[in-house]
Amino acid sequence: IAAATLFPLIVTEIAGQPVAALAQKFGTPLFVYDAAIVAERVADLAAFDVVRYAQKALSNLAILDVVRRAGACVDAVSAGEIQRALAAGFRPGFHEPPQIVYTADIFDREALEMVAKHEIPVNCGSPDMIDQYGAVCPGRGITLRINPGFGHGHSQKTNTGGQQSKHGIWHTQLAECVERAKRNKLSIAGLHMHIGSGTDMEHLSQVCGAMEAAALSVGASIHSISAGGGLPTPYREGDKKVDIAAYYELWNGVRERLAAAFGHPVSLEIEPGRYLSAECGSLIAEIRAVKKMGDNLFYVVDAGFNNLARPILYGAYHPMAVAYNENPAESPRPRQQALQQVIVGGPLCESGDIFTQEDGGYVRGRELPVAAVGDYIVIGVAGAYGAVMGSNYNSKPLAAEVLIEKGQVHLVRERQTFADMIRGEHIPR
Ligand code: LLP
Repeated sequence: IAAATLFPLIVTEIAGQPVAALAQKFGTPLFVYDAAIVAERVADLAAFDVVRYAQKALSNLAILDVVRRAGACVDAVSAGEIQRALAAGFRPGFHEPPQIVYTADIFDREALEMVAKHEIPVNCGSPDMIDQYGAVCPGRGITLRINPGFGHGHSQKTNTGGQQSKHGIWHTQLAECVERAKRNKLSIAGLHMHIGSGTDMEHLSQVCGAMEAAALSVGASIHSISAGGGLPTPYREGDKKVDIAAYYELWNGVRERLAAAFGHPVSLEIEPGRYLSAECGSLIAEIRAVKKMGDNLFYVVDAGFNNLARPILYGAYHPMAVAYNENPAESPRPRQQALQQVIVGGPLCESGDIFTQEDGGYVRGRELPVAAVGDYIVIGVAGAYGAVMGSNYNSKPLAAEVLIEKGQVHLVRERQTFADMIRGEHIPR
């Protein structure tokens, strides 16, 4: 049953390390990241002048460090993400290319202070940001995030274009924003578009035309364009991978035509989150109950949507495998090498806490190997938008995270303690 597929149903190791040993050493739920996969994904995109990692997908400092060593830059959507980038060794400042860029639809007061203090270039996603930035940093070059009027994502909730979306500057307001920038003594040094997350080639390619027209309308102050992120990644057998070479060629064409029109080089950026970090990560959970509810069989595990929210939020599909808990001191338990339909749920007191959801979210059974309490479920492709979207719902601590690099296992985030969880809470006396 563990045939040669991309997503086997039984796994014994992750990045060469036995799953059961990892679970026993670090406890569960446990995120495990394979550094080599992140570095490989950065290398896939080497044709682009700048690979700017959208750290919101997975911002553990150790992962940021892997990304930095692989030669990528980083974006930051908050004061916290700017601080993470700095802590991971990215250099602040207006270098070419800037290693850290603040990309958001608003400045909260802390972020505005931080971009001014650390000289972090900004990508403005609303006209108001132009005025707010101009008031504190006149004379700078900025980039504008444009909403081209259309978008697409793996779910409507991850579509960031079109008039239903709050993201970016509406495309017909571009000329007005160029004027607004001038009034603020800012120049428009680049444009950026990101139409959604987990989209496809057909939709991503439409951005090229919109970018070319928008950049030509601004003119020769443009020195960089960003294709945004949104590259899909396979979550199940048969999911297509993007043809990076073809995608690059489309964008390179835009870049070359703009460079010819402007009479100077134009740098081409790409800003993926999922593509770089989804496949590196697995979430290990222990099966704590196997129970029958009428016709349905449930494996209830110790990870829930407090650890991985994608299934409950988007009805997102994640591959799953069983890892047997073999204790070498005992003789191996007899294993029924058979599959059965199971629903995999978590510990939270909420009916939607089910990992086997798909297609916009209804609970489905999934063929998984027969397993027992004490065995593990390994949820795959859980690097991106996994740990970062974790919460303390039901007072569950944030999970531990482990990075495997060159055969070495590093604990890169300790499991949160109860004391961490209640820090800052006070009972009035
Ligand atoms: N750039 C900008 C401006 C973004 O807003 C995002 C994602 C990215 C780049 C990276 O997109 P990616 O390459 O990862 O698709 N929580 C959702 C995804 C939300 C994406 C938010 N913005 C999920 O789990 O699918």
